[in-house]
Amino acid sequence: MGFVVAIDGPAAAGKGTISRAVADHFGFQHLDTGLLYRAVGARVQAGEDPIAAARTLTPNDLERPDLRTPEIAAAASRVATDPALREALVAFQRSFCALPQGAVLDGRDICTVICPDAEVKFYVTAAPEVRAERRFAELSGKGMAVTQAQVLEDVLARDARDMCRADAPLVAAPDATILDTSDMSIAEAVASAIAVVDKVRAPSS
Ligand code: CDP
Ligand code: CDP
Repeated sequence: MGFVVAIDGPAAAGKGTISRAVADHFGFQHLDTGLLYRAVGARVQAGEDPIAAARTLTPNDLERPDLRTPEIAAAASRVATDPALREALVAFQRSFCALPQGAVLDGRDICTVICPDAEVKFYVTAAPEVRAERRFAELSGKGMAVTQAQVLEDVLARDARDMCRADAPLVAAPDATILDTSDMSIAEAVASAIAVVDKVRAPSS
């Protein structure tokens, strides 16, 4: 088993940004597990069965340019309530825990279900208004026609669905370090995460 950093948290909290930076810093692989749910959501929207879609995901599915749209985010969180679909995605995600070079996985149930034995766990969060502002800047920067109020509504609806579902709900694991990035720059959030990982990798005597 390699060294595993598990990261959970609500929408647009900074999970992906922190995960990529931590993976780069330590030379770990990164898996954005939300992309798997987004790719299945996109195929289900096109009329496919969720389990059939999960079993036949290809790298092309994970590179679709429309995966980051609010519509596909909502479709992802709807398919993510299905326990059979979640189960169909477990083995692929867990295969990253065994990578000898180490791995960072981010999503909603990484600390609690996928990698409960991870060496380091984070729950990355921020105030909903801050998260909506960040996601709005991201989407409008890509030329998508959205309003900040609509993005906030979408983020809150998705958080509620993710936190209230019966199977693998989004919750902070009791042993996770909480990283509230509301008042942090990206550099500060990344530095805090790296410091926590450093302490576990090479504890000072
Ligand atoms: O992966 P997740 O949805 O949790 O969030 P993300 O995609 O990493 O971050 C959402 C947006 O917020 C991105 O545009 C980041 O650049 C930005 N961000 C920020 O402004 N400040 C932070 N401390 C973290 C992320
Ligand atoms: O980047 P953001 O936090 O907005 O979303 P994402 O991480 O791409 O996840 C999209 C959706 O997939 C979430 O709202 C969840 O419903 C679902 N998801 C999940 O249920 N479990 C995971 N491990 C990752 C994502």
